[in-house]
Amino acid sequence: MAEVVIVPDRTTAGALVADHIAAVIRRRPDAVLGLATGSTPLPVYAAMRERLADADVSRVRGFALDEYVGIDLAHPESYSSVIAREVVEPLGLDPDRILTPPAHDADLAGAGERYDAAIRAAGGVDVQLLGIGTDGHIGFNEPGSSFASRTRVKTLTRQTREDNARFFDSIDEVPRHCLTQGLGTILDARHLVLLAFGEGKAAAVAGAVEGPVSALLPGSAIQLHPHVTVVVDEAAASRL
Ligand code: GLP
Repeated sequence: MAEVVIVPDRTTAGALVADHIAAVIRRRPDAVLGLATGSTPLPVYAAMRERLADADVSRVRGFALDEYVGIDLAHPESYSSVIAREVVEPLGLDPDRILTPPAHDADLAGAGERYDAAIRAAGGVDVQLLGIGTDGHIGFNEPGSSFASRTRVKTLTRQTREDNARFFDSIDEVPRHCLTQGLGTILDARHLVLLAFGEGKAAAVAGAVEGPVSALLPGSAIQLHPHVTVVVDEAAASRL
């Protein structure tokens, strides 16, 4: 079973996970990070900033989980913009070594395969950060996603578009499709760190950690992985 760490608040979670990632980078300056977007990992990135202030991060590599299809790359809510703003710039990483799925490629199927190949060529992901959607999605692998799936185009559910509408002026602006790492891609990472905060995530967390392993709750795929750490606050842990 996954190691579950219950912390009092997001700041404590951010500090805990940032300590771990900073240690990985100090040990291995060319570490490969799996980067998540959404609000959940923000305390981790904020805490990494302090911990890595004097570290050599020039060789760190990173791969984001997902990107919207059909959004202008320069849009502030494209995941490419979010990763640049929240991770690359504040941490002083090399932007050429931090990739998001190329959702603007005319050949999207090929783009997914090439993204997976780039992850493999980098030696695979050392630490994969994950949030979880209220419907149990990880990355943008919505319910019904195959556990063997690789990076590919997915259609966002109404629920996910409603959840993410807060980042846009209206739900009509939320893209309908995305290019996301598959569950199989995510499971290839050597260590998964799933974070969740708040009561709204309690059901998804319980399903992911203790529920039946089912494509209906994609987060339950973490039960197939030998090295998983789940960091949650009391509210997100309330149904465990
Ligand atoms: C988004 C992202 C996921 C994220 C999840 C939760 O749609 N694609 O990677 O984990 O939904 O978002 P949040 O952390 O804002 O609750």
